[in-house]
Amino acid sequence: MGPNDAGSVPLKGEIAPPPDKSISHRAIFFSALAEGESHITNFLSAADPISTINAFRALGVSIEKSSSGLIWLTVGGKGLGGLREPSNVIDCGNSGTTMRLLSGVLSGCPFFSVLTGDDSLRQRPMQRVTVPLGQMGARIFGRQNGRFAPLAIGGVEPGKKLNGISYKSKVASAQVKSAILLAGLFADGVTEVIEPVKSRDHTERMLKAMGADVKVDGLKVSITGNGKLSAQDVVVPGDFSSAAFFMAAALIVKDSEVVIKNVGINPTRTGFLAALWRIGARVTPNVEREVSGEPINDFNCEYTGGLSPIKLDDADIPAIIDEFPILVALATQAHGVTEIRGAQELRVKESDRISAMVTEMRQMGAEIEEYPDGVSINGPVQLKGARVRSYGDHRIAMALAVAALTARGDTVIEGAECVDISYPGFFEELNRLRGLSG
Ligand code: S3P
Repeated sequence: MGPNDAGSVPLKGEIAPPPDKSISHRAIFFSALAEGESHITNFLSAADPISTINAFRALGVSIEKSSSGLIWLTVGGKGLGGLREPSNVIDCGNSGTTMRLLSGVLSGCPFFSVLTGDDSLRQRPMQRVTVPLGQMGARIFGRQNGRFAPLAIGGVEPGKKLNGISYKSKVASAQVKSAILLAGLFADGVTEVIEPVKSRDHTERMLKAMGADVKVDGLKVSITGNGKLSAQDVVVPGDFSSAAFFMAAALIVKDSEVVIKNVGINPTRTGFLAALWRIGARVTPNVEREVSGEPINDFNCEYTGGLSPIKLDDADIPAIIDEFPILVALATQAHGVTEIRGAQELRVKESDRISAMVTEMRQMGAEIEEYPDGVSINGPVQLKGARVRSYGDHRIAMALAVAALTARGDTVIEGAECVDISYPGFFEELNRLRGLSG
């Protein structure tokens, strides 16, 4: 008997993950700034992208929703000069993408605005955007010298513009890169961002498709200001990061066989897939296609006994950034020591994901060591059911739920409702694949 043979219920059937969160945010941002009307098909109707919708409505953008199966949105683009001063503070909720990208846009606008967020977001680092935006001439302020939100943005003075800069970022962060590129749309001259390792490139792809002068040269991305964006219809692919939970679940629960459809496979996002292939996982792609400039595929995922361990370092992390929690859960079932280092960014996500996974997986019986920049996990172990906490972090809640599938005994996840941040219906889908009613 292996550690996975505890009588878990196998997952069987087909699933389409919810629409991609990053792309849903960007579809709203860029459509709102474009000239003309855009339609967004398969938009992620979850708490984070809804924060972005509410923010742009507060800035005077009309966003109409009609839902007939898929969620459709119609966005009345205002052009780069058309946003209006919000009459109140903008609440970005739990969404780092909303706050950081918006700080780039609002820095280039001629009015005053304030961005705030929930307890988690107000503790996340903002200097990574306030410093470069300040160098571009933005009047942007935050608590503790720009380190934390609320952020107050003075806006450009009448007749003035931001100035383009060349910025070498210390972190590989798509939110930082996108905030600077968005500010660059409003700036005089060329703005360029150089990253230490490439982060997700949805912004570059979508801005180019809407007519912006964006150039990519290895780790350097540049944009020429004072252009315009043209409205474009966007079809949002399925979210790889959400699909990852079901890939992992199928791999570790005996007799499982799951087909996951319409999964976005942008290469800047699929480090987890590459890791799965390296550890011997039975995850088979079908025919690759494209929607709105993003590659997608379907995957057959089957239970795989005897998964190998893996070692990942800082060069691997950006492409697997959101899959850290589920990789930790999965590694408890691999045969040997998995080591994930260079992952200090995980400490400043919606929760400290390193500490959260170490604490909670230990509760479930995992053998796991914590480092300042990562973890090592010794597997396989028979996990045991426990009372665990989500820290209000959607990806922690879902990773613990997948770990619980192989555990002996029941697991209770406190604060599990936070899955609504990116995956409303996650637990219903899990139950459906296990043949249990929602
Ligand atoms: C995101 C970028 C990543 C990722 C987050 C979404 C985005 O954050 O972790 O979930 O949409 O740009 P960082 O830019 O902070 O790495």
